[in-house]
This record gives sequence, structure tokens and C-alpha cells, in this order.
Amino acid sequence: MGIIFHEQEKTFHLYNKEVSYIIRVMENGQLENLYYGKVIRDRESFMHLHEAISRPLTSVCVPEPGVLSMEYTKQEYPVYGTGDYRSPALSILQENGSRIVNFTYVSHEIYQGKKSLSPLPAVYTNNEHEVCTLEICLHDEVINTDLILSYTMFEEYPVITRNAKLVHKGEESIVLDRALSMSVEFQDMDFEMVHLSGAWARERYVKERKLEMGIQAVQGIHGTAGGAEHNPFLALKRPDTTESQGEVYGFSLVYSGNFLAQTEVSTFNMTRVLMGIHPEGFHWKLETGESFQTPEVVMVYSDRGLNKMSQVYHRLYRKNLMRGQWKEQPRPILLNNWEATYFDFTEEKILSIAKKAKEAGVELFVLDDGWFGARNDDYRGLGDWYVNLEKLPDGIAGLSRKVEEMGLKFGLWVELEMVNKDSDLYRAHPDWIVGVPERFESHGRHQHVLDFSRKEVVDYIYEMISKILRESRISYIKWDMNRYMSEPYSRGLAAKDQGKMMHRYILGVYDLYTRLTEEFPEILFESCASGGARFDPAMLFFAPQTWTSDDTDASERAKIQYGTSYVYPLVSMGSHVSAVPNHQLLRITPLSTRANMAYFGTFGYELDLNLLSEEEMAQVKEQVAFMKKYRRLIQVEGDFYRLLSPFKGNETAWIVVSPDKNQAVAAFYQRLNKINASWLRFRLEGLDKDTLYEVKCNDTVYRAYGDELMYAGIPVDRELLNKEGGDFASLLYVIEKAEP
Ligand code: GLA
Repeated sequence: MGIIFHEQEKTFHLYNKEVSYIIRVMENGQLENLYYGKVIRDRESFMHLHEAISRPLTSVCVPEPGVLSMEYTKQEYPVYGTGDYRSPALSILQENGSRIVNFTYVSHEIYQGKKSLSPLPAVYTNNEHEVCTLEICLHDEVINTDLILSYTMFEEYPVITRNAKLVHKGEESIVLDRALSMSVEFQDMDFEMVHLSGAWARERYVKERKLEMGIQAVQGIHGTAGGAEHNPFLALKRPDTTESQGEVYGFSLVYSGNFLAQTEVSTFNMTRVLMGIHPEGFHWKLETGESFQTPEVVMVYSDRGLNKMSQVYHRLYRKNLMRGQWKEQPRPILLNNWEATYFDFTEEKILSIAKKAKEAGVELFVLDDGWFGARNDDYRGLGDWYVNLEKLPDGIAGLSRKVEEMGLKFGLWVELEMVNKDSDLYRAHPDWIVGVPERFESHGRHQHVLDFSRKEVVDYIYEMISKILRESRISYIKWDMNRYMSEPYSRGLAAKDQGKMMHRYILGVYDLYTRLTEEFPEILFESCASGGARFDPAMLFFAPQTWTSDDTDASERAKIQYGTSYVYPLVSMGSHVSAVPNHQLLRITPLSTRANMAYFGTFGYELDLNLLSEEEMAQVKEQVAFMKKYRRLIQVEGDFYRLLSPFKGNETAWIVVSPDKNQAVAAFYQRLNKINASWLRFRLEGLDKDTLYEVKCNDTVYRAYGDELMYAGIPVDRELLNKEGGDFASLLYVIEKAEP
């Protein structure tokens, strides 16, 4: 691994075993990207990768007889108005009304390690020898502002992280109207754009589309979250790239607020990728001495398909993004009462559900919505974070003690960023909600967004919730957020600062997370936003798992978990076995399939086990025992390979393989059953071809070498599928190294 600076050609070469990234300082002092892709050997000069020819209708940005034009240059960080007519990464409004800037190279620094971006979350390292960083400082003389572009290279991963920072030193103020985290350019357009898009209860479906000339983008402008609609991620893959082969470039933004992820193909077939905070509504004024830090983008290059890209994100996010005691720890098997009771519970009922959960081997009981204020439905109570003594006469302190006495840990649901108008909090502080005075304030789920861009609001909520956490025995918090922002406006900010509101809101959320995770380091936090509307890397920095979706139907989950796994590790995906008929789809799926799906995540239950038959209860006990045995492999150690895509057919399959390749768990799921059907076989990945394995599926066992399992595949026994229920049946395969 290294970052080399070639003085003569002013060229930087960042490389490790797998990837190269080459930047050059051009004759006008700006930066050009010469190459990003599979590692190439270092040379004194990469000048021949620069192409400059004179073209008609071109704005030339160097004195005659130069031909350099920004329009045909692969720039590192394009700015507005320079004769480049594609979208820029940066646009700065100045006091004279101009937006023209010229950031040119001043200096650079190369060092081991990586700086924190605090208060923004970012990938970090505990071992400064595993990463090195390049910071390039550019300067605009007229406004007297520095632009610092940072690149961190990892030794073990084909990963480069990027961010940009503006430091304003000039006397006159400037306004950032657009300050994206990065731009990357490719000289061709032979790509498909892959993104994860959907809606509530069908989050992160895999979408692929061919790049065409012009702009294609996904975005989130919801204020409180990136949203269920689009994830802050995109990838560019070659048309023939599959899960297991071919080139792909991934881009993942470590941020929870408004985002833009855009590709733009010029009419000369060049592709530009831009990513960062969405410019809509963003208007950030900088006075002299102030700076602005953009969030981080994590770029992954894979020449071995999408699975490799995902495995890199999984490892990096498990090891270098998640923090605290729960990082890389198998997760407790929980039972959550939401779908079991909704708002309708008493302490007695809760204790009876918890008791049965304990009998099944469950380790953590989570009390969901409805325990506080006047919260008997979703019309009231949000904001009043004190216990409802009518429902829980001994308070959370008493209930959590009783649950712990049963031998279970206790967890609690909160939604700290929101308020109902019917609440003591709103009555006391009506000006604390987001909205414009004298205008209608839209509501969603009968609730309003608290203005977390104001410190006094965050302070107040912190005091209320930390009191409960101090007084009770709480091991787990499910931090929910159930509506997007509307009428973005802060009653606490000056007119000139309103364009800062939405970013400040997210910083307020990070601030509260920081305070709570620092004060209560033993608590396992799970983030949630109407299910998976805020499933992003930044959340994983604070809360190492996220409730994947409110859709708990096992068959629908195949798509949701398949798509989510493009970026996010299995251990981050909240996944539960729920009751049938399923509450969202009214579908009936076998209990075995519901568990076979939930195993590939955090695993837990979301139903009243008292309502199961004895036979089902026996099955649940076996499931819990299975997960206890294999969760370390599935959640924190193994590599995950997607094998059959639910977006392409009736079947889904995947496998988790241990790093030493001695152990694996694979699963096969079908949607509808088929009559008199064709052969069914799926090929495994990640095993050692020369190792003999024992393959167990229900009561059947056979032996085969890794080569057979990977190249010929596992024949799926349709009889077994029929026994498992036919429609929506699934099979689990435990694969272990055998003695020859
Ligand atoms: C959201 C969550 C659910 C549940 C409810 C409670 O919808 O995603 O899991 O916690 O809120 O109101």
C-alpha cells in the first residue's frame, strides 16, 4: 500500500494490492483524475493517460496556444462556471454575486492513519499502519478560501474514502450552495447504474439501469433521513458483471440526511459520479475563520463482482465503522412485543410474553411503542418521555427489574426526534417543532418533527431520556423515527441561516446519539425509521444494527434483505420471526421459512409465543438453539455470498462461509411451489474446492467436495420442499468440513 507523489509530473498514485487511483496537478493548477480501477504498477509519469485535443465550441481555460478545456477533462472536484457544462461538485455564491472560483494546488500532506470527521461519523482505524491518507490543499485567491480534498487508502481493502472541506479565511462572507463530498470521472459510459430503491415495507430493492447520456440520479430530500425511497448508495458495474465476476465500483455515503447520488454522461461518453449532501435547500454561509466539512464517501472497487464489493463493505463497516462493545459481537436473541400487542398491553401481559420467551431460550425482551405519556394510540404522547403508570404501575424501573429477574435483558423503544401536538412537551414548547410560523404544518402519523437543529431542544430530550436510562436496567434501545420533515424551517435560526437547518438537524441527531452512547456504552442501540427508512452507514457508527423493514413477511424479506446486503453486513439487519397470517400481507408462510430468513440478520421474534401450539413452541426452541450455535459465523465472522436473486426468479439462495472455509450455512427459498417441475440445483460459493464437506439438510446428510458443491451445485430435493409446506418453503444447509 502506498501514496506516491511524483514531483516532476505532480502526480499522486494511491494504490494497494487491488486498486489504483491517480491524480495529476494540471498546468492551470487544478486537479485531473487520470485513472481509477484495478491496480497498475507505478511509473514516473502517467502523462500519456491525459488526453487533450482541441474541439469546436470549447472554452479553453489556459492562455493560447494551450487547449485545456474543463469540459473534456476528468476533474477531481469540478466547480461551477468554468466552461465545464456538466454538474459541479461545488458552487459558491460570493458577495459580488459571482459564483466563479478557481481552486489551485498549494500543497499536500501524506500521512499514516486517518483523521476523525467529528461531529460527522466516518470510517476510522485503530491501527494507523493499516491506512494512509493524502490531503491536497487547493486555494482560491480571490475569496481567500482553502479547499482540502482527503483520500484515505486501506491496506487490506480495495477501499478509498473521500471527503472535502472548505476553510474560509477571506474578509467577505461566502455561501456554499453546493458542496458535495466527491466527484469521480471515467472516460467511458459502458456501465450500468445499480441502486437500492423502494418505499415503506419494500425498501432497498435492487435496480439496475444502463447509463445513457445525461443525468441519472437517486436522492433523498426528506430532512430527517435518506428515506425508504432511495439508499445513499450507488454502484457502477460493467454490463457483464454478475454477483461473482466482473468490475464494479461502489459509492456509499456516510450520512443520514438529504443526499444526492448522481451519474452524468457527457456527449463524449465520459461518466461523472457525484455524491454528497443534496444541494436543494442547502445554503451554508461561511464567515471568516469558519469551515465546512462534507460527509465521507466510501468507494469500493471490485474486479470479482458484486459479492466481492459487498463483502468489502461488510468487513469494513463491521470493523472500521461500528463502535462500542457490540461491535463484532453476536447479537442477543430478542422478542419484541410490537406485533404481539401493538399499544394494547398491561404489565401482566408483557410479563407473560416475556416468560414464554425465556422458556424458548430468548435472551432479551424489548418493549416497543406505547409505554409513556398518554400513548395509547399514535395520536398522542410522543415527547413525554415518562412512564404511563396506568399501564405499568411499577414504571420502567420496576418492569425492567422483573424482566431481569426472569433471566432476560430488557430493551425499550423510543422516538426522540418527534412530538405529537397532544403532548405536554408540545403544550410547553409549541415553537420547538419544525415549520414556518403562520403557515400550515403538515403532519405525518399525527406527529411533528422536533427542531433538532437547536441545541436547547436536544439538551431537553437528552435530560428526559437519560433519566429513564439511569433509573432502569436497560440493555437495548430501539431508536425510531417515523416521519420525514416538511416545511423545513427553524424558528430558532436567523433568516440567513435557514439553509443550514436540515444539516444541523442531522448533526443534532448525531449529538444526541453521541451523548447517549458515551454515557451508556453497554446499551445496544438499534436504529429504526418506520422500518428501514434510515438504513445508512452513518447510523451504524452509533447504532450497530437497524430495523430492516416493517415488512416482516418472510418471502418479501428475501428481496429486502438481498438488496440491503449489497452494502450492509448481516449483523446490522434487524430481522424477526413474526406471526401468520402476516400482519402486512396476510400471507401464511411456514414457521421454518420465517426462521430461515431471520437467521440471516440479528434474529428475534415479534409475536406472542403463548399463542403457538406445543409443536410450534418446540420448533422455536430448536431455532433459538440453532441461532445460538451459528450466530458468530453468520453475524460476525463469515463472508456472505448471494447465489440466486429474488429479483430474477422464483428462488432465492445465499450462503455464509467461515474465513477458514471449514463451515458454512446456506439457505434456499422458493416463492410458489411448482408441479411436475424441472430439476432444481444451485451452486455454492466461497468453499474450498479440495475440502470434503458434510452437507446436512433437515434429516438428510451427504458428503461432497467443495468443487462439486461449487461447480455442480446442490440438488434441491423437491420432496423436502413439499414437506416444508410447498409455497414459501425453504431449506437450510449446514455444511461442515468432514474427515475424508
Ligand atoms: C415504527 C417501527 C415499528 C414499531 C412502530 C411503533 O413503525 O418501524 O417497528 O416500532 O413504529 O409505533
